[in-house]
Amino acid sequence: MEKRVAVLQGDGIGPEVTAAAVKVLEVVARRFNHIFHFNYGSIGGEAIDQFNNPLPEETIALCESSDAVLLGAVGGPKWDQNPSELRPEKGLLAIRKHFDLFANLRPVKAVPSLLQASPLKEDIVQEVDMMIVRELTGGIYFGQPSRKTEASAVDTLVYTREEIERIVDKAFELARLRKGKVTSVDKANVLESSKLWREVVEEKRKGYPDIEVEHQLVDSAAMKLITNPAAFDVIVTENMFGDILSDEASVITGSLGLLPSASVRSDGFGLYEPVHGSAPDVAGKGLANPAAAILSAAMMLRYSFDMETEAAAIEEAVNTVFEDGYFTTDLAGRTDRAHSTKEWTDKVIDEL
Ligand code: NAI
Ligand code: MG
Repeated sequence: MEKRVAVLQGDGIGPEVTAAAVKVLEVVARRFNHIFHFNYGSIGGEAIDQFNNPLPEETIALCESSDAVLLGAVGGPKWDQNPSELRPEKGLLAIRKHFDLFANLRPVKAVPSLLQASPLKEDIVQEVDMMIVRELTGGIYFGQPSRKTEASAVDTLVYTREEIERIVDKAFELARLRKGKVTSVDKANVLESSKLWREVVEEKRKGYPDIEVEHQLVDSAAMKLITNPAAFDVIVTENMFGDILSDEASVITGSLGLLPSASVRSDGFGLYEPVHGSAPDVAGKGLANPAAAILSAAMMLRYSFDMETEAAAIEEAVNTVFEDGYFTTDLAGRTDRAHSTKEWTDKVIDEL
């Protein structure tokens, strides 16, 4: 297959980790006879420096003519004092909104050779393999009215049936590719929007008789994520609950440098990026862990390009490199030798 990938490297370690992911994709292309075209665009702080705009028109046009977007990270102390229109994060919010990327997918999976990196006990973590599906373009972060006076403030949590239907469909489709279970998280004992959410899930499940469904209130879900995280497969939830739960879930396996993410819509187009930020403290030193970016590239192959075998090959290679005892500084214990971004990436490439 022939695919066009827009690469938005961004700031800090963004260029280092996306370069590693592109190298891995080039090897995948050779091994599986695909052609990937990589075209580079600006986003975030470096785009502010060059274009005075965190998401320039050129970048939008580039992404529009691509099949998927691979992103590094944005931000850094250089732009922290900028007015809100000229903040790097603005570029990220704008690109998600522009492309209507309503489904944010965050897999969290235990790495057998890294169980000791988790703050939880090994026997609680070892079977963890879940996917959080967060609604990304609706809910209280976008609802109107939203304003504040001296005396009071208001935010509005609004969802249309259609918005709920498309994210719930996405969750069911993903569960089919995984362990076949969907946990829908809401607050249906209090919120009207959650009652509609639950209704839609009940309707939708009829179309997926092979999928096990459970409803869970968000407070108890937050608790179970810590006491029994291995019980989850796909978790689907609205924007704010998903924001909170996905950060909670991200620490279960212990390392930020390992977590990939995808933001997709229904036609297969998507944006793939590591969960971590631009890590200015380690930028430019060859210390960055490229695993999250490389695993984000694997998600791109799986969800935008329908290349399951190729995606699994990358994931297997990453796991093998960890099992063989190769770690970047963020993961290396006192007894391990830490490897640079490039050395570690080359190991993954050797495996592939
Ligand atoms: P961060 O995720 O960049 O870093 C947190 C800590 O983890 C740092 O000590 C960093 O060195 C380490 N770390 C993160 N990823 C790593 C990797 N791949 N390899 C090795 N070490 C890694 O979060 P922080 O420090 O809160 O934010 C730094 C900048 O990144 C800020 O400007 C922030 O706004 C931005 N940011 C951007 C995000 C994005 O582009 N999606 C997400 C989060 C933060
Ligand atoms: Mg968050």
